[in-house]
Amino acid sequence: MTVPAHVAIIMDGNGRWAEERGLPRLVGHREGYRTLRQIILSADKLGIGYLTVYAFSAENWRRPKEEVDGLMQLIAQAAIDELRVMHQNNIRIRTAGRIHEVPESLREALERGVETTKNNSGITFTLCINYGGRAEIVDAVNLLIAKGSPSIREEDISSNLYNPDIPEPDLLIRTAGEMRWSNFLLWQGAYSELVVVQKPWPEFTFEDLREACEEYSKRTRKFGGLAEG
Ligand code: IPE
Ligand code: IPE
Ligand code: MG
Repeated sequence: MTVPAHVAIIMDGNGRWAEERGLPRLVGHREGYRTLRQIILSADKLGIGYLTVYAFSAENWRRPKEEVDGLMQLIAQAAIDELRVMHQNNIRIRTAGRIHEVPESLREALERGVETTKNNSGITFTLCINYGGRAEIVDAVNLLIAKGSPSIREEDISSNLYNPDIPEPDLLIRTAGEMRWSNFLLWQGAYSELVVVQKPWPEFTFEDLREACEEYSKRTRKFGGLAEG
């Protein structure tokens, strides 16, 4: 099996998972966090070099305040609680998104995680928070304007994204069945292979990740050219 170097995941379906059980949506988000802890280790075990997950979109502020506040608290607490184990496992933490706009406690917890693990050589785990694909491209263009670029080439955009050193995702997984992109990695995902899983995120397992990678390894990537051989 050809293991994808970089897997990106749209972790969707936490709310539906909870609602189907008559539970508050935030319980679904808590279960989703439990899943994520396992999946980071699973990805590492499979030999995936980069794992990028969509945890909160730039558009998710449109949700009720209670859900938004609960999510911010959950993510901040998780960032604090998980740091030691992540560091022990040689995981390198990154973030993507307009981090300066999230509550300070969350921003500080994330910055500590990134700083503490920056020299680790294991899997690179990127948490996308207040992330929008369009916003990322706009931010890159504004950086280029500030640098005085007279005109813009594709390489200029690529090298001014939030994490320009991270390769583009090979495999993009979305859980909970929706066949849409929801403003995730618009630039980097131009040639990603898509796998949509019907299960909601809280039910996603190591085996599901392995199956998605297996499906990926059967795909023929062409990047606009012709298949090799
Ligand atoms: C994904 O689950 C997590 C976030 C967007 C924060 P949802 O909360 O979107 O779950 P559904 O789509 O309502 O089931
Ligand atoms: C995408 O899911 C964002 C995250 C998983 C964080 P959404 O649930 O926000 O996407 P839509 O609204 O169904 O497109
Ligand atoms: Mg959703």
